[in-house]
Amino acid sequence: MKNYTIVVLKGDGIGPDIIDATLRVLEAVRKREDRFQLNYQFYPAGAECYRQTGTNLSQEAFAACQQADAILKGPMGLPDVRKPDGTEAGLLGGVLRKGLDLYANVRPIRLFPEIATALAGKLAEDIDYVIVRENTEGIYFSRGQGEVTPEGVKDTIVTTRVGTERIVRFAFELARSRTGAPQDGIKRVTCLDKSNVLRSFALFRQVFLEIGEQYPDIEKQCVYADAAAQALVLWPERFSVIVCENFLGDIFSDLGAATAGGLGFCGAANIGARHAMFETTHGSAPSLAGQNKANPIAQILAGAMMLNHLDEVEASACIMTAVETVCREKRVWIDADGCPIEGTQWVTDAIVECVADGK
Ligand code: IPM
Ligand code: MN
Repeated sequence: MKNYTIVVLKGDGIGPDIIDATLRVLEAVRKREDRFQLNYQFYPAGAECYRQTGTNLSQEAFAACQQADAILKGPMGLPDVRKPDGTEAGLLGGVLRKGLDLYANVRPIRLFPEIATALAGKLAEDIDYVIVRENTEGIYFSRGQGEVTPEGVKDTIVTTRVGTERIVRFAFELARSRTGAPQDGIKRVTCLDKSNVLRSFALFRQVFLEIGEQYPDIEKQCVYADAAAQALVLWPERFSVIVCENFLGDIFSDLGAATAGGLGFCGAANIGARHAMFETTHGSAPSLAGQNKANPIAQILAGAMMLNHLDEVEASACIMTAVETVCREKRVWIDADGCPIEGTQWVTDAIVECVADGK
């Protein structure tokens, strides 16, 4: 029997709703597989934690994250809880992504069957790519250290060769393990940048092409970010793996989400050499909290990514299949706020049932 220590940070807003849903699904798959234990350690974290204690993650919680096999994190942040510099106090990006050197933010964009897409004429099989967002550098490196002068503020982009090499390599390895772009089945990595304008992006692209030479089996493609904004809407089927700088990855993962039924369907993995954290791409939606409204699927998919990372590949696949089945066979109607009409509980029950039945 394998034993995993999982730190669970439920977070703010809808965090507790969707983490509780995910824990139910994980329990169902654990029971079914009966080959591993998940030992949870719960810690407060985020904006509410900051409001009450003056820190968004205690030192004790951070130390537990360092020791854990994985971290399952709910969305964090409340708009009215701010640091003295005006930025949101509940966000853990600096603490966990930087602090644990989780350099690869892996964000699958996948349209599930029968889920409404904003793109006319696209089918589920047309939208299935992964954004690999560099997670420790780029413009967000400037987080908390923007230079304030009487004239204005200067934030600095940092792109290192080493940092770019590792993220690009990660993207090529991922592309190798996937089936290829929906349109043609070709294993392809697309570098998304603005190398026509900024030197930092020129370095990013140069390193991409250099490392790419070590992957002759993978097609290399470079697209300027502005053109990519159009391409991802018009021709998502041409993409398989996209690698990009931190800020671009943040923006484009929400754009991609919009084409795949919304952020409620987008889980994310934050992977480093020694630690890993699993979360949603979306935020804490405080206005929807505690009302059985939130779509739990993004967080459940994050749970599946966590099991995959722990090498519980079958358990992970079982959850993926269950989500697919529920989408295909039940009507998961999503309203204008991104909420499932039938509620959090109903979606979770349906997924738990499919997991238990192995469907
Ligand atoms: C995300 C979020 C975070 C980010 C915010 C909440 C700091 O938007 O994970 O995409 O900018 O990275
Ligand atoms: Mn974001």
